[in-house]
Amino acid sequence: MNEPSEKPVTAFPWKELKPQNQEGGPGLDSELDPPAVFTQLEFWDEEQKPTLVEYEGRGLLKNKAVLITGGDSGIGRAVGILMAREGADISFVHLPEEESDAKITSKEIEKAGRTANPMALDIRQEANCRAAVDNHMKKFGKLNVLVNNAAMQEICQDLIDIDLAVVEKTFRTNILAMFAMTKFALAHMKRGDCIVNSSSVAAYMGNPQLVDYSSTKGAISTFTRSLAQQQAPKGIRVNAVAPGIIWTPLQPATKNNPDEAMETLGINAEPLQRPGMPVEVATAYVFLASPLGSYTTGETMHVNGGIEMQG
Ligand SMILES: NC(=O)c1ccc[n+]([C@@H]2O[C@H](COP(=O)([O-])OP(=O)(O)OC[C@H]3O[C@@H](n4cnc5c(N)ncnc54)[C@H](O)[C@@H]3O)[C@@H](O)[C@H]2O)c1
Repeated sequence: MNEPSEKPVTAFPWKELKPQNQEGGPGLDSELDPPAVFTQLEFWDEEQKPTLVEYEGRGLLKNKAVLITGGDSGIGRAVGILMAREGADISFVHLPEEESDAKITSKEIEKAGRTANPMALDIRQEANCRAAVDNHMKKFGKLNVLVNNAAMQEICQDLIDIDLAVVEKTFRTNILAMFAMTKFALAHMKRGDCIVNSSSVAAYMGNPQLVDYSSTKGAISTFTRSLAQQQAPKGIRVNAVAPGIIWTPLQPATKNNPDEAMETLGINAEPLQRPGMPVEVATAYVFLASPLGSYTTGETMHVNGGIEMQG
């Protein structure tokens, strides 16, 4: 029998997390140290040693066309690459400053034998959300899966000091743009198609430093539940994923996040005691977007290492 271990035993990098700051964001994956893991799953061999093994698709999204916001880096990048390995062509939206990350993501999608369609657009403008959907349709002629994933956050210790312009920017990026993307996308979606939204553990635990961000994530979970009921008669499923603490550029790019916050990110978070890697969350999106999730709608999947357990 295994002895309980005080430290996490894992093949994913965790103990060498370095303090780093990409303040002001958006952050870049290329600057994360150690690099995040996007495409490898942790398997345990017969000697009970964990190893990382490349994710192999099995055609779960064969010939589907997927549109992802915030798809250049982090969770969105992992979702795009795994979905490409499952047979889908991928459009993804990113901010112009993230061109270098977007190029790497496009290459990985193409390595999977699928087409990448990157778009540098700020989704805070409604016209850009419409342009993203129009451009995707022009390229692929169908829209089977929409992944509403882009978001931003800025820390504020006390609401008395909160910058209301930042609150508005956070709501515009995280939830209002989701309304716009979804409205324009739904016009092209058919029975069997689906939507997956990125919520957060912060929607369920709250976060005293991120009151505005957490509020947008709460809204996303309720948006998901309500829209799922509305769209079910049309055969369109709507779900969300609520990640916990994940090793992505969002963290070091979070304005006013001290450098040292990165050094311990997720390491003390019980019970798994480590941050998750983008690939470990992306698998939930594949489940929800594919026939594996055909009986699931209005649901939020909690992928958070157990720090908050839903009944
Ligand atoms: N990393 C975590 O610990 C964590 C935890 C819970 C939830 N999430 C959620 O996961 C999702 C993905 O975040 P991530 O952690 O992969 O970080 P990330 O920084 O890699 O991704 C965020 C993406 O949002 C995009 N974005 C932000 N503002 C935009 C705008 N105005 N227009 C277009 N794109 C814009 C950026 O291009 C970026 O790619 C987010 O919704 C985030 O809230 C992350």
